[in-house]
Amino acid sequence: MKMLWNDRHGRFSPLKCATLGLAFAPAVIIAFWFFTGALQPLSVKNALHLVGDWAVRFLLLTLALTPLQRLFNYSKIALIRRMLGVTAFSYATAHFILYLIFVKWNLAFATSEIINRFYLTIGFVTLLGLSALAATSFDAALRKLGTKWKMLHRIVYGLAVLALFHYYLQSKIDVSAATLMAGLFFLAMTIRLMIARRMALSAPALCGAALIASALTALTEFTWYGLATGVNPMRVFMANFMVSHGLRPAPTILLVGLAVAVLASVRQWQVTTNRQSAFR
Ligand code: HEM
Repeated sequence: MKMLWNDRHGRFSPLKCATLGLAFAPAVIIAFWFFTGALQPLSVKNALHLVGDWAVRFLLLTLALTPLQRLFNYSKIALIRRMLGVTAFSYATAHFILYLIFVKWNLAFATSEIINRFYLTIGFVTLLGLSALAATSFDAALRKLGTKWKMLHRIVYGLAVLALFHYYLQSKIDVSAATLMAGLFFLAMTIRLMIARRMALSAPALCGAALIASALTALTEFTWYGLATGVNPMRVFMANFMVSHGLRPAPTILLVGLAVAVLASVRQWQVTTNRQSAFR
């Protein structure tokens, strides 16, 4: 029998085992909080929010795998892509089930809400898309679909955008958490684009990617506040430069991007040194 923690050759894989632990940990913690009353008084709604957050996190982590694989020269990362994708889908499904529990399994009401409330329609479309990807994530589907499989699985980028849009739309006045997630998406996508264009992933280029992702984060936040709320977007934008307001999403993304640049450069230096000593 094929065990989830084994690699393709049936050998135990610590990476897959750790990923499995990571996939289950938030669910176990949320369930623990739920059953010990820590999420009261709105236990179901609070669990729904927490599980939704993790659905987005796992989806973004799945998208970040290719950049991480290239930056850290770690080919084994490919082993956990499918596992993380299915995890994102599982959290999204659990989030939907919690929504149904929240509306007391009133399916007629849930359907009319999903049709009439734009943010729920977006969430539903995202879930449908993730279901299509999960249903075709097995080896048999890969073989059957051939080249179409890759094309189908490219919709994951669009689904991530929809999931983030759903996140923004359901946020009340403060969109910081959604903006932080959008920033991580921008960072992963900027580096992915550099890889697709075969650009060198040097330290200065990665610092440039961090700057671009941070600027896109600030722009998204500015645009959202300008178009969707009554808050002055200029005040929100200026808060990015004031530490007294805490670290806002755009500067956080800049710091994360710079940290990635430093760590990737150290790793690249390590790989080059190892190769040189192997030839000596
Ligand atoms: C049929 C599908 C879906 C339904 C019915 C649904 C419903 C909801 C509801 C009711 C909320 C809370 C709104 C509020 O408190 O006012 C919410 C929040 C959220 N949902 Fe969904 N959702 C769906 C799909 C998704 C999917 C596919 C994802 C991610 C992949 C997702 C991620 C989130 C996130 C991140 C939040 C915000 C959590 C927070 O504020 O901490 N949802 N959703």
